[in-house]
This record gives sequence, C-alpha cells and structure tokens, in this order.
Amino acid sequence: MTYAASERPRTALIFGGSRGIGAAIAKRLAEERFSVALTYVSRPDKAREVCDGISGTGGTAVAIHADSGDPAAIRRAVAEATDQLGLLDVVVINAGVLRLGSIESFNPDDLDLLLNVNIRGVFLAMQASTAAMRDGGRIITIGSNTAIRTGAAGGSAYAMTKAAVASLVKTAALDLTPRQITVNNLQPGPTATDMTAGMADWLKERIPLRRLNSPDDIASAVSFLAGNGASLITGTSITIDGGYVL
Ligand SMILES: NC(=O)c1ccc[n+]([C@@H]2O[C@H](COP(=O)([O-])OP(=O)(O)OC[C@H]3O[C@@H](n4cnc5c(N)ncnc54)[C@H](OP(=O)(O)O)[C@@H]3O)[C@@H](O)[C@H]2O)c1
Repeated sequence: MTYAASERPRTALIFGGSRGIGAAIAKRLAEERFSVALTYVSRPDKAREVCDGISGTGGTAVAIHADSGDPAAIRRAVAEATDQLGLLDVVVINAGVLRLGSIESFNPDDLDLLLNVNIRGVFLAMQASTAAMRDGGRIITIGSNTAIRTGAAGGSAYAMTKAAVASLVKTAALDLTPRQITVNNLQPGPTATDMTAGMADWLKERIPLRRLNSPDDIASAVSFLAGNGASLITGTSITIDGGYVL
C-alpha cells in the first residue's frame, strides 16, 4: 500500500519490549498508531502477550527473539523489523540487566553480562538501527538515574554502564545531526517492574515524591521525545526519579 506522508503509519523498534518499561513503551507507541517491533530474550510468552494485546486493538506488532548481548542477533533484529515494517522512525533501546555486588567481590561473569548488554548492546543497537532509519527519526535509550545519583552500595557496575550510555548519547547525537535524527537518553529512577521486585518499600523511602515510577511514566517521556514537540532536543539525558536521594 502507498501512503501520503501524513497518513503513513510510523514505525518503531523497541529492544527489550516484552516486560516492564519496554512493554509499556510498546503499548503506548501502538496506541499512538505506530507499527511496532519488539525484541525479547527469555520470555516469549510475555512478548506474545504484548503483541496480542496490540493486534487485538487493531495495531501491528512483531516479536523478535534477539539477545542484546549478541552482536549478530542485534543486526538480525533490525533486518527483521525493517523487513516486516519498513524503515524505522523511532528506535528505543531499553534492554538492560541489573546485577548487584560489592566492588570487593563482584562476579566477573556478571560484569561481562552488564558490559555486553547494557553498554555494547546499546552501542551496537544504535549503530545497526541508524542504517535502517528514516531521516528525522528518533533514537531513545533507557539509561538510569544511577548514572548521576550516588545510588546504593552494590550498584557500582550497573551505575557505570548507565553512565556510559549517557555519555554515548551526548556525542552520537552529533554524528546524526546531518540526518536530523535525534538521540536522547531517559534516566528512570526506581520503577515498579520485575527488576525492582522485593525492593519497592526500601526504594520508596529514598524518593522525595514518595512513589516509584510506573512503566507508564517512562512511556510518557518516550511519547514526548518521539513527538513533533521534541524535534530540537538531542544529545541529552532526562532524569525521571522523583528527586531520588540516598
Ligand atoms: N526498573 C527500574 O527501577 C529501572 C530504573 C532505571 C533504569 N531501568 C532500566 O530500564 C530498562 C528496563 O528495565 P525494566 O525494569 O523494565 O526491566 P525488566 O522488567 O527486567 O525487563 C527487562 C526487559 O529487557 C529485556 N532484556 C533483558 N536482557 C535482554 C537481552 N540480553 N536481550 C534482549 N532483551 C533483553 C527483557 O526481555 P525478556 O522478557 O525476554 O527477558 C525485558 O523485556 C533497563 O535498561 C533498566 O536498566 C530500570
């Protein structure tokens, strides 16, 4: 089908869209008439649930198995998303993992996982996506407020990876200005997902606004960055954490 530019459905690829923040982003963009592709690694059931929900309301959603720790899988995910949806308007790089431990005894395998998924995976997802994006597109990474807040003991390796994402976005944005593609980073504070299960009460005490983010709070910020009103925002990080202090 051929669409006039104003009618053509926009397209979005969400790395890590099966649960939590990524699932809320996929649903929100679908509500805004994006056709979406989302990746998952361990929960095909959850990925299917998100896609079924979207297609049940008349939208288009495609689930793609792709481990963000695997460079070839990232490239395949971009190829499959564009095969199914066409060139991409919005890419959200949300896939991430949390591993905790003291600097004195941090497990080296956990360190490798954090570096591979939270840093290399973000870099390679951004790199692979740029070639498949329309000019004027939006790239949005999901970092963390731990990049700028003191955080908590045991979080040093995770915080390091999220600081790397904030740094990547600042300068990658400059590379893409000739194509009017913006690159921004959202830094959620504690958010009610599987990642914070069992920690909510402890975390709430550290949030001056006295509540955790819901995944929808982060989806709202993605919606803003993906919209017309944000076309001049690039290379920046936006923190959404209720004023978190430790
Ligand atoms: N929750 C928080 O408090 C919080 C705060 C700040 C920042 N963040 C960041 O927000 C992002 C999402 O967090 P969340 O709380 O929604 O986490 P979550 O509930 O644990 O969900 C993680 C999502 O990422 C996917 N994922 C994980 N590892 C992956 C990999 N190797 N390859 C591809 N996909 C992978 C998961 O897929 P499967 O379902 O297939 O496993 C799932 O869709 C992460 O980058 C996290 O660091 C979270």
